[in-house]
Amino acid sequence: MHVAPMSEDDLQHVMRAWSAALPHDQLTEQRFRRIILEDPNQEPEGLLLAKADDGSVVGLTACVARRTVKGKDGRGCEGEFRRGFLKGVFVAESEAEEAAADVLLGEAESYCRGAGKEELRVTEYAGPYLWPGIDVRYERQREILAKHGYRDVRTIEDVAVDLRDPGLRGRAERARAMLSAELEMLDWEPELLPTMQRFVVEGEELQWFPPGWESGLSQPRENVLILKKGREILGWAQYSPGRPRAGFGPILVLERARGRGYGSLLLLECMIRAREEGAEYVEAGWANTSFYTANGWNIVRRYDVLTKALAVEECQ
Ligand SMILES: CC(C)(COP(=O)(O)OP(=O)(O)OC[C@H]1O[C@@H](n2cnc3c(N)ncnc32)[C@H](O)[C@@H]1OP(=O)(O)O)[C@@H](O)C(=O)NCCC(=O)NCCS
Repeated sequence: MHVAPMSEDDLQHVMRAWSAALPHDQLTEQRFRRIILEDPNQEPEGLLLAKADDGSVVGLTACVARRTVKGKDGRGCEGEFRRGFLKGVFVAESEAEEAAADVLLGEAESYCRGAGKEELRVTEYAGPYLWPGIDVRYERQREILAKHGYRDVRTIEDVAVDLRDPGLRGRAERARAMLSAELEMLDWEPELLPTMQRFVVEGEELQWFPPGWESGLSQPRENVLILKKGREILGWAQYSPGRPRAGFGPILVLERARGRGYGSLLLLECMIRAREEGAEYVEAGWANTSFYTANGWNIVRRYDVLTKALAVEECQ
């Protein structure tokens, strides 16, 4: 068994090993490229493969360590600059399993230490990501990480709802009753940009608005909804149409305007639109679960976020 940075030639072997080790995440080559290989923070030394002597892949670690607070993806923040992120990890069941895990995790940790990081997280990485943590169904992968000193810090959920619910339209109508000449719900129009800029600054959710976010809003967008009161924006939500599954998120209501039903209004409106466009279900990943369950959604997938403090290496 030996460990080395992944190259383009390894892609097919990685896909095969990935499907066997992570059956709940059947990846396409295109998605792997986009999320792992083309992540601007992914350095070659952070993407390692363990290979058996016959060339088969027996493990992978994809680790990122932002070199500046924002990082090359522009989504990092001060509070997490001390962390590296193990955004992808698996070890295949094989004779070399123990050795592969020892070397891969040891290398990932020393890569992060070398980048000045004090902690390695699986995952909560807000740059291009596959999952927000490790799916709780991957018991063996979690055992391997636990054995190497990774501890659970929190649980994150994905949620979904069936849009064929006959009560949906009534709930949306009731929520719309709060709209008035002062409180309007609008489809995105580029002329809202100056008002949106003030919303983004006050909202302080920079991972959703990395540098250059304005370019994604340079055209009218029917899947981006704005809640505007007088001259200011109080809420923003977007969804991605799909059949049979649409996606929802992110959503943000300014802190001072929360608890008045504005979030639910935006959510219900997106659900109605997704339904009218042919979706049967809508899903939201990495969710603020209680907001969604209060609106009739269910938890469909659960992840553990694990972390390990990186000891400082002693100088000789
Ligand atoms: C989540 C968010 C959009 C909700 O907006 P809101 O206008 O306060 O939502 P509503 O007033 O419609 O609340 C509806 C229900 O959700 C629940 N809820 C809303 N926000 C919640 C939160 N942050 N935590 C727990 N429960 C919450 C409330 O229990 C409420 O139920 P109630 O009416 O029985 O009290 C808002 O809190 C927000 O912008 N949070 C920060 C960004 C975020 O977490 N986005 C979601 C990412 S998936």
